[in-house]
Order: sequence, then C-alpha cells, then structure tokens
Amino acid sequence: MKLFLDSANLQDVENALVRGHISGITTNPSLLAKEPKSNFYEHIKKIVALIQADGRSLPLSVEVFATKPDEMIAQAQDIVQKIAYPGLNIKVPIGWDELKVIYALSKLGIKVNCTCIFTEEQCVLAAESGATYVSIFHCRLKDLGGDPVRVIENTRNLLDLRSHKSEIIVGSIRMQSDVLEAHLAGAHIVTASAKVLQQMSSHPGTDKSVQGFLSDFQTWLA
Ligand code: E4P
Repeated sequence: MKLFLDSANLQDVENALVRGHISGITTNPSLLAKEPKSNFYEHIKKIVALIQADGRSLPLSVEVFATKPDEMIAQAQDIVQKIAYPGLNIKVPIGWDELKVIYALSKLGIKVNCTCIFTEEQCVLAAESGATYVSIFHCRLKDLGGDPVRVIENTRNLLDLRSHKSEIIVGSIRMQSDVLEAHLAGAHIVTASAKVLQQMSSHPGTDKSVQGFLSDFQTWLA
C-alpha cells in the first residue's frame, strides 16, 4: 500500500516530504496550471530540489503536453534531459497512437506512467507496451457510471497473471474513503491530494482520546 502526493504545489510537497508518508509524487498539466505562472522546467526543478533535499529518490511523474506522438517522444526526451532526475517518469495518456510513444520511451529506458485510464483493457495495452505505471481515474470513472473497484480488481488480477512489473496507480481521488477502496481493490499505489492525505490522519475519536489523556495526566500532576 503506497501513497503518492498528487500535487505540483511546492508547499504541499514540502509538507508531505517532512512527514515521510509519501512514496512518490504525481503531477499533471491541470495541477501545474493551478500554480503561479512560471517556467515549466524551473517549477519541476524546484519540486526535484525538495525531493533531493529530503534524501530519497522518490518517483516523480511529469506529463507531456504535446499531442502528436513524435512530438510527445521528443518532448519526453527533452523533459528527461532538462530535469535530469533519476526518479523522473513521463506521463503519457492512453490511446492507440500513444502506445507508440509508450513503447518508444520504454525502449529508450524512460519510465512511463500511462494515465487517463478508465478500463482494464487500456491498462493491459499500456502494460504490454512497457508502461511502468498504469493510472486509473477512480472518481472520474464513477462520474461516468463506471465501477472503478471492478476495474482495479480485474486489472490487478490480469497483471499478476502475467507477472507484470507494471504497478497500478489509482488517481482521481476525492475522499479518504476512495483511498481505502482503491487499495483494498488491489491498487499498488494511490495518489491523492494533500488535503485528502491530511484528512486520513485525523478522527474525532483521536482528538477526544488525546485530550482525555492529557487532562487526566495534568490532574495527576497537579
Ligand atoms: C493522477 O495523477 C491524475 O492526473 C489525477 O489524480 C487526476 O485527478 P482529478 O480527476 O481530480 O483531475
């Protein structure tokens, strides 16, 4: 059960790294667009600097924003070369032509996180083409009336049958219950926002218990 932070926000990254609960970071163009406008590569390098300061070579997913396969391949190589971080993996959306990109990048030794996935079939195609991660969009699939638990379960069974090294990342997480649901369904990794990850740490019963212990102890000390 691994947790990744789904954010491009530098404060989110810093707050997560200092607590040690994340095993990676995923970004996407929309998450980057939420940040103050700056140079794309400079912003990614700032995230890498925070990861390196923490001392672990955590995987970091950065998505291509080119749309034509040849341009995607060139852009991915450009990102890898300019960012120069061993933990970097390139996010490529699933698609018929995008399979050429996934296969080409995997042959170049560039790790791919195949994203925007909604079905088992898309996962299998991406994994067979060499993707390191296959990213299923949990809540977006639910929004469309789909059953992400079934897709995750089936995908995990299919990957295990072939002893695939590809790992299932489940994203598009909105509540802490989605995290548990995805992990119990067989996700290797769940990537969630800083807000959801923080919510996972709290419960009213915890607060009440801590207050009670402290109060009792203060009474005893008095
Ligand atoms: C994974 O990294 C996805 O890009 C991300 O979780 C999508 O989440 P959203 O459905 O909230 O945009």
